[in-house]
Amino acid sequence: MNKSINFRNSFIILIALVLYTCNTETTSKSSTDNPFASKVDSILGLMTIEEKIGQLNLPVSGDITTGQSQSSGIGKKIKEGSVGGLFNIKSVEKIKAAQKIAVENSRLGIPLIFGMDVIHGYKSTFPIPLGLSCSWDMELIEKTAQVAAKEASADGVNWTFSPMVDISRDPRWGRVSEGNGEDVFLGSEIAKAMVKGYQQDDLSKNHTLMSCVKHFALYGAPEAGRDYNTVDMSRIRMYNEYLPPYKAAVDAGVGSVMASFNEIDGIPATGNKWLLTDLLREQWGFDGFVVTDYTGIWEMMAHGMGNEEDVVSLALKAGIDMDMAGDSPSASAAYVKSLKSAFEKGMVTEDEIDNAVRNILTAKYQLGLFDDPYRYCDIDRAKAEVFTSENRSFARKVATESMVLLKNDNQLLPLKKSGTIALIGPLATAANNMAGTWSVATDQEKSVSVLDGLKQTVGDQVNILYAKGSNVDYDLELEKRATTFGKTIPRDGRTDQQLLDEALQVAAKSDVIVATIGESAEFSGESSSRTNLDIPQVQQDLLNALLKTGKPVVLVLFAGRPLTIVEENDTVPAILNVWFPGSEAGLAISDVLFGDVNPSGKLTMTFPRNVGQVPLYYNHKNTGRPLGNTEGKFEKFKTNYLDVRNEPLFPFGYGLSYTTFDYSNLKLDKTSINMDGELTISVDVTNSGDYDGMEVVQLYIRDLVGSVTRPVKELKGFEKIMIKKGQTQTVSFKITVEDLKFYNYDLDFVAEAGEFEVFVGTNSSTGLKSKFTLIN
Ligand code: BGC
Repeated sequence: MNKSINFRNSFIILIALVLYTCNTETTSKSSTDNPFASKVDSILGLMTIEEKIGQLNLPVSGDITTGQSQSSGIGKKIKEGSVGGLFNIKSVEKIKAAQKIAVENSRLGIPLIFGMDVIHGYKSTFPIPLGLSCSWDMELIEKTAQVAAKEASADGVNWTFSPMVDISRDPRWGRVSEGNGEDVFLGSEIAKAMVKGYQQDDLSKNHTLMSCVKHFALYGAPEAGRDYNTVDMSRIRMYNEYLPPYKAAVDAGVGSVMASFNEIDGIPATGNKWLLTDLLREQWGFDGFVVTDYTGIWEMMAHGMGNEEDVVSLALKAGIDMDMAGDSPSASAAYVKSLKSAFEKGMVTEDEIDNAVRNILTAKYQLGLFDDPYRYCDIDRAKAEVFTSENRSFARKVATESMVLLKNDNQLLPLKKSGTIALIGPLATAANNMAGTWSVATDQEKSVSVLDGLKQTVGDQVNILYAKGSNVDYDLELEKRATTFGKTIPRDGRTDQQLLDEALQVAAKSDVIVATIGESAEFSGESSSRTNLDIPQVQQDLLNALLKTGKPVVLVLFAGRPLTIVEENDTVPAILNVWFPGSEAGLAISDVLFGDVNPSGKLTMTFPRNVGQVPLYYNHKNTGRPLGNTEGKFEKFKTNYLDVRNEPLFPFGYGLSYTTFDYSNLKLDKTSINMDGELTISVDVTNSGDYDGMEVVQLYIRDLVGSVTRPVKELKGFEKIMIKKGQTQTVSFKITVEDLKFYNYDLDFVAEAGEFEVFVGTNSSTGLKSKFTLIN
């Protein structure tokens, strides 16, 4: 029976192909550069308007159960041809079952595309993206995407909603955890590496995923850091400071783009034709498909863009191809719900619908799904290739590179592998929190907690004592909100005082205290904005009590964003920021604490002193009234605050090592270059401490005079190198006119002749300095 249906489908498609070759009137505009155009148009020719709209539908699948999918609501919709793809279904068996319905039981047998939020690894989970970005290691980052693609595609997935490249300068916004921090140059490099890692050179290979860059655009700049809030930004800022990472992903060949929830220039991104068509397709040449974010079309009604038919028409005309989750009961406006009536009323044309369908069918061709719809459904592969020991040890290495050593007085770290350690804090045993936010596929309980990690690595040399010490927060309701999605940290039945007393007893027996405190995993991520960026008060109280014992305290700080830790920085001798390190967290933390790995992570987001300084970022403008001193002394009528100095607590690019690096001999091979010239900048970096170590050498420039105001510094290059103790390495950077270009007032991408300062150093606030001139 199934075979005959398959045969019938192939037959219909064949006929269509024949028809197509005889009738070129149906040829689309894109057919000249799309190798699948004729095939796609042939299928289009067979489709009813309902089936076309069905291809645009990406419904919430829930967690379909194998066997039941045949009869479930979603199974029926697939059979009717009203589904184009599904997302976040876990397991190859379930995906295969759903694909079978599409291919064997729907009229045209068009395969489904299967998406998932594979954000920082699949089951072998890497650090949250903000942490990963702190590795500044593009090869490593690309490989994380490659490993994620291999695991996810082995489990049936062929499309990932990643990378998230939204620049953000506001740590109140919980989704900074999912991005690459505040810098546009680094963010663009990471965008490229991720797309390359996921897609490699052939999307139709069964170990690659189609990537979806998100959230287009400017989602990281919501007013007051509140998720989904209004964004309002000048074009010049957009072009220079926020758009380049999306463009880098497009230039790297990303297959799809997700529209953001926010508005841009008063029109929601989902309905913004300037954004999705003029800029994305016409200026940047993007030729993949565009998907909404979750219920984005429906949300345009709340934005005040009209009724159901108005918003679907707006989305389609703007350039939205696929509608994510519009089919969910909560959304009353969706392509499957209102596009047909909008079409019947003449609000959209069939050509507009066809264009969207074309983009989706083309993606399915690119993924090889028409050749073999089960290409990603090899059940044996799933068993052999997911959460392997090889991938897990890679994840452990990556995690060590993401950690940032913020403070290390008197070389308290690394710890000795002897004596007694008191491991204290609510995060110490919370295996399910280690992967952090947006870890959809992770088996949370299989992650390695800090306690288990220490036991496994140094348990036979070090006496490890443990106490919880406190709950996550005094406020039970806040704690519940911050420990959702399977990331519960059970509330302890004991009182705060009892928890504290136990911790102090344990601490009394130790030589050193390791305090594992900070945010729980869901304190950051989507819909997790905060107005207070302190460590929760109950954990601060615990930390202060531990400090009072007089024992040395190492703070292992868990965070999904920069936190305000001025007081902790004053009082705690050693602080290791571990973000959320992924499935191998405990092992990686142990590697760094005991010096098996020397930390090398550098912050990609500024740590403010307090929330009032936000947004705070290194590449700001100078203003007409800059401060005249660098000591942070208040100056009346200059740009500063009465109550806090301007500088952050830790600047962009900051991070310590167990060793020290000295910079010397900054050289420029010329003092001026022409518009077609090239400048070589070199510097000597010496490892002057006692450990081998990796250093991220950073190059910044300043364009001193411009036709528009220019930032006080901009990252233009970086190099991560391993230097053995006592050795010196020379690092060179090349600068051409391309590196000096920016968008001017007319939004032309230009370099302007004049003087430039150069800074090379270990972070954005210190470095050796020189100058050169760009000549016309
Ligand atoms: C998020 C996206 C995500 C999508 C699908 C949305 O709520 O904003 O980043 O890809 O859900 O899970």
